[in-house]
Amino acid sequence: MRTQLLLNCFAAAASATTYFLTVFAPNTEVDGALINASGQGFYLSLDGPSVYCPDNVSDCPKIEGTLVTSNMTAMAVKVPGGQQIYVLPDGQVQYTRAHSSLQPPGSMVGGWFNKTVVLSSNDSRYAFDYLAPDGSGKGGVKICPDVPDAIKGTGAGYSLYVGTKAFNESFCIEAVGLNLMPKNVTFGAWEYV
Ligand SMILES: *[C@@H]1O[C@H](CO)[C@@H](O)[C@H](O)[C@H]1NC(C)=O
Ligand SMILES: *[C@@H]1O[C@H](CO)[C@@H](O)[C@H](O)[C@H]1NC(C)=O
Ligand SMILES: *[C@@H]1O[C@H](CO)[C@@H](O)[C@H](O)[C@H]1NC(C)=O
Ligand SMILES: *[C@@H]1O[C@H](CO)[C@@H](O)[C@H](O)[C@H]1NC(C)=O
Ligand SMILES: *[C@@H]1O[C@H](CO)[C@@H](O)[C@H](O)[C@H]1NC(C)=O
Ligand SMILES: *[C@@H]1O[C@H](CO)[C@@H](O)[C@H](O)[C@H]1NC(C)=O
Ligand SMILES: *[C@@H]1O[C@H](CO)[C@@H](O)[C@H](O)[C@H]1NC(C)=O
Repeated sequence: MRTQLLLNCFAAAASATTYFLTVFAPNTEVDGALINASGQGFYLSLDGPSVYCPDNVSDCPKIEGTLVTSNMTAMAVKVPGGQQIYVLPDGQVQYTRAHSSLQPPGSMVGGWFNKTVVLSSNDSRYAFDYLAPDGSGKGGVKICPDVPDAIKGTGAGYSLYVGTKAFNESFCIEAVGLNLMPKNVTFGAWEYV
């Protein structure tokens, strides 16, 4: 009986393919903060993600917060074509609009990797870190106070950035990485706006 329960448990865990994001930055004020999507960027302290589902869609998925797919590849959305995650030349992490693959010139995809973080001899964890695929050797996850005015008004205090060749933000908190926390649903929203 116990064995059967455990097997079920593993099977269910393996089927979870979406993740919500938290900041992993021990001993900083942003450690554990939830990250929400809005205005094509990722922000801390928002009340919730900015989402949309057109009136003529009959099966809008339940809004489940801000969910991404494995390896920070895309947003977990139902809209046909999906929404890809990319990095602007200056390091801000963004996602494409629905029905568009448009990324500004010099944007980068990929670069994320799952690393082991050893906190002590008996405590190790996993976190997603970033190495820019621009050959610069720059990288790292940075939580920066540079927030657009329109989003600042909604309560966001920080934006998600990563290190790139052209990164030029000030007063950022260097995070160890992002924690991708599995969630057992397929979609976080129809689309993020
Ligand atoms: C995940 O969702 C599926 C389908 O709704 C359900 O059968 C399964 O028990 C869930 N697993 C967990 C760990 O909640
Ligand atoms: C986003 O905001 C909602 C509040 O609507 C919150 O419940 C959620 O945990 C936040 N973060 C993520 C990663 O979804
Ligand atoms: C909903 O309407 C938009 C245009 O207003 C159209 O492009 C889209 O195909 C429609 N979707 C469905 C599911 O009918
Ligand atoms: C995520 O990245 C790892 C390492 O590159 C790779 O082995 C794995 O297949 C990727 N997962 C998915 C679902 O693409
Ligand atoms: C690690 O080991 C120490 C000493 O044995 C113990 O006090 C501590 O609770 C352990 N921590 C974890 C996370 O297991
Ligand atoms: C970096 O930003 C500072 C102030 O924000 C600005 O003065 C400087 O010109 C920028 N450098 C580059 C290379 O863009
Ligand atoms: C990171 O790697 C560990 C070890 O392989 C794995 O257990 C964990 O699920 C991975 N995390 C993500 C979000 O892929």
